[in-house]
Amino acid sequence: MKKILLLGSGELGKELTISLKRMGYYVIACDAYEKAPAMQVSDISEVFNMLDREKLKSIIDKHKPNFIVPEVEAIQTEVLIEVEKDGYTVIPSAKAVNLTMNRDKIRDRAKSLGLKTANYAYAETEEALILEAKKIGSKVAIKPVMSSSGKGQSYATSEDEVKKAWNFAIDGMRGNRQRVIVEEFIDFDYEITLLTILEKNGKVSFCEPIGHYQQRGDYQYSWQPAKCSKKVIQDAQEAARKMVLDLGGSGIFGVEFFITKSDEIIFSELSPRPHDTGMVTMYTQNYSQFDIHARVLTGMPLPNIKLLQPGASHVIIANENASGDYFIEGIEDALSDTNVDYRIFGKPVLKPYRRMGVVLADTLENAKKAANKIKVSQKS
Ligand SMILES: Nc1ncnc2c1ncn2[C@@H]1O[C@H](COP(=O)(O)OP(=O)(O)OP(=O)(O)O)[C@@H](O)[C@H]1O
Ligand SMILES: [Mg+2]
Repeated sequence: MKKILLLGSGELGKELTISLKRMGYYVIACDAYEKAPAMQVSDISEVFNMLDREKLKSIIDKHKPNFIVPEVEAIQTEVLIEVEKDGYTVIPSAKAVNLTMNRDKIRDRAKSLGLKTANYAYAETEEALILEAKKIGSKVAIKPVMSSSGKGQSYATSEDEVKKAWNFAIDGMRGNRQRVIVEEFIDFDYEITLLTILEKNGKVSFCEPIGHYQQRGDYQYSWQPAKCSKKVIQDAQEAARKMVLDLGGSGIFGVEFFITKSDEIIFSELSPRPHDTGMVTMYTQNYSQFDIHARVLTGMPLPNIKLLQPGASHVIIANENASGDYFIEGIEDALSDTNVDYRIFGKPVLKPYRRMGVVLADTLENAKKAANKIKVSQKS
């Protein structure tokens, strides 16, 4: 049986593993903690720090996988570049994973390809950040160069706030680079993820755009299809095509754009893998983003992708001070709306604002209603 080494075992990795298992692959799920979601459905698991170069290398040597499939950004990507040279297949490509691991590299790449992005600069000290923030404008977004799900991310409109944002970013930083990105705040009308599929033969195709809403830099709900003008769809597709062809390889990508009131598209960021806002495709499409990734990464032909019905997703999250063991109530009540579906990720413990599950429904309103009925509570 062909082997997949999954680097990162969260909820996206879990659904991808299910898709791969259906196709007959052997999946080794890796993460830094035990009983991670994908480990519950994989063949075997490995618990180790994926930022540890030697350890990552030894796990690859041990299993000799046919495909190495990153699910998170916090991976020692230099190792992936090396093993790709040795003949391993990294999904979508070692270059894509390396460039997207840090926000700075992918931002610079987008700019060099002629995509419009928010004005931005980098800073490695608090003083430099204050200086750069002033140059960029009256309101800025400040983010660690390496983080996800909004960790360490905040907005600032004064020097005091910039100082606070510096400390917040450094605390939320993943890895060991003390570097932040400071961006012009974009007062967008709405934002989308364009799931973009790159096949081994270089063919590029798209799912219907997904609209989403974020809080604390983390996705709260999403819907598909997002109502975009023809121009927005065309421009976003053209930009996404450029990006994925430059990154190369095969797989699905989540390409994020801000859309302004005048229908201008601004590139925000890109994930070389399924996207959290794309969980809605488990409800709306004949093949979800996970099925598509599984097909394309293994080099299988891409089936005909159809939007079967519109739909929405809404996260089920732990509260602000949550920790430890937990229980979930209200699912049966939520399912009294027979258009509602859900996934519980089975994460071992609660953490503040940790995403524990997702509700899927026919409309955003119904997804919100159902999600409100589901409560995640800490065991006392
Ligand atoms: N420059 C900006 N102007 C306005 N809003 C922004 C800006 N940067 C980020 N945001 C808001 O914060 C959200 C998260 O930002 P971003 O996607 O860069 O971070 P992330 O940590 O990678 O999040 P995720 O992993 O959930 O995609 C964006 O989707 C957007 O809503
Ligand atoms: Mg994002």
